[in-house]
Amino acid sequence: MRLKHCFNTPQFRKLAKQRLPGPIFHYIDGAADDEVTYRRNTQAFDDCDLVPNVLAGVEEIDMSTTVMGKKIDLPIFLSPTALQRLFHHDGERGVARAAEKYGTWFGISSLGTVSIEEVGEAISTPKMFQLYVHKDKGLTNSMIQRCKDADFDAIALTVDTIVGGNRERDLVTGFTSPPRLTPRSLISFATHPQWTLNHLFREKFELSQLKDYVDEGTNLSLSVSDYFSTMLDQSMDWKAAEDICKDWGKEFCLKGIMSVEDARRAVDIGATAIMISNHGGRQLDGSRTPFDQLAEIVDAVGDKIDVICDGGIQRGTHVLKALSLGAKACSGGRWYLYALAGAGQAGVEKALSNMRTEIERGMKLMGARSVADLDRNNLRYR
Ligand SMILES: Cc1cc2nc3c(=O)[nH]c(=O)nc-3n(C[C@H](O)[C@H](O)[C@H](O)COP(=O)(O)O)c2cc1C
Repeated sequence: MRLKHCFNTPQFRKLAKQRLPGPIFHYIDGAADDEVTYRRNTQAFDDCDLVPNVLAGVEEIDMSTTVMGKKIDLPIFLSPTALQRLFHHDGERGVARAAEKYGTWFGISSLGTVSIEEVGEAISTPKMFQLYVHKDKGLTNSMIQRCKDADFDAIALTVDTIVGGNRERDLVTGFTSPPRLTPRSLISFATHPQWTLNHLFREKFELSQLKDYVDEGTNLSLSVSDYFSTMLDQSMDWKAAEDICKDWGKEFCLKGIMSVEDARRAVDIGATAIMISNHGGRQLDGSRTPFDQLAEIVDAVGDKIDVICDGGIQRGTHVLKALSLGAKACSGGRWYLYALAGAGQAGVEKALSNMRTEIERGMKLMGARSVADLDRNNLRYR
C-alpha cells in the first residue's frame, strides 16, 4: 500500500498497519470491550439515505461553516488526539500544518507531544486545546494558563474519560506510553525498523504539557487507560466545568456529551459548543453513537450552541448526513491518524484533500450550494 493509492479511510488504515509496530497500530485502531460502539459509530450513517435536489446551479459551491466563532473552509476538523509523535515523527506539527493548509480547526491533546507554546506560535489556523482535569490542580491550571498565554482559540474539556475504558487490544499488546520493550513487542519493533529508528534517533519522546508535573507517561511507562484512572480527577462535576469555562473566558466546548439533558446543561454553564462523542468507542462500549443522538440534541439546543458530530466519519457523505441533521460541523480522529501514521504531514494532507473532494462532489450531487442548503428534507431513514 502506498500513499498515492489511498483514496479512503480503510486504505489509510492499511498503510498505517504496514508502517507501525503492532502495539501502536492497535492503540489507534482499537476501542473498548467488544468494540461494538466503535463499529456502530460508522455503521450508523448507513441507516439513512441522502435525497438529492437537482438543477441547482452548482458551478460554485461554498463548503465553509462557522464553528466556535471561526469561519473554516471545510465542515470537518481534526479532533485532538494523544501521542501523535509516537505515530509519526511529524506528529502534532504535521497535523497542525495540514489543518492550516486546508483552513480548518485542529486540537492539541493534554497528552500531546508538542508544546502549547510551539503550536501557538507557529500555527495560525483556529486551534483548540483539549483539557483533561487532573487530580493535581496545579497541572490543570498550568495548562489553562499556557493556553491563555499562547492565545489558543478554544478549550475543549473532555468529559467522557472519568475512568479509562477497557481497551483489551492494549492489554494484549502491552501498549504503554512511552512504549515498553517486552519480548512480544520487541519482534514488532524489530520488524518495523523505519519507525523504530525514527523513534530512537529523532527528537526525544515527551508529553509536553505534563513533563514538568508528572513522570507517568513521560518517563514511566503506563497504559493510557491506567493514566486516566489514576491521574484524572473523578470528582469533576458541572460546577468544576462551569468554573473552568468562566476562568477561560473564551470559546469553550464540552467534548463527550451524549444526552439531551447534558447538552442543555452545557448551554446553562456557558459553553459555546459541544462535541457529541463517545471518544471513538474507546470508553463506554454499548453506548449510543454520536450520529444517532444528533437529531434530538440539535432539536434541543441547536439554536443556542454549536453542535459538532464527532466520530465514525470516514466519507464526505457522512459529513453531509450530519450537516443535514443540523450539525454545525463534524470532527474525527482515526480518519486523519491512520494517514499521519502512514505518511506524516503528507498523509494528513491527502486525507484532507480526499475529504474535501468528496464533500464538494457530494454537495454538487445533492444540489447544495452552501452547507446551509442541507436540511432534514435531504435525509430519509429506511
Ligand atoms: C489514538 C487516539 C487518541 C485519542 N486521544 C484523545 C485525547 O487525548 N483526548 C481526547 O479528548 N480524545 C482523544 N481521542 C478521541 C478523539 O478526539 C475523537 O473523539 C475520536 O477519535 C472520534 O472517533 P473516530 O476516531 O471514529 O473519528 C483519541 C482517539 C484516538 C483514536
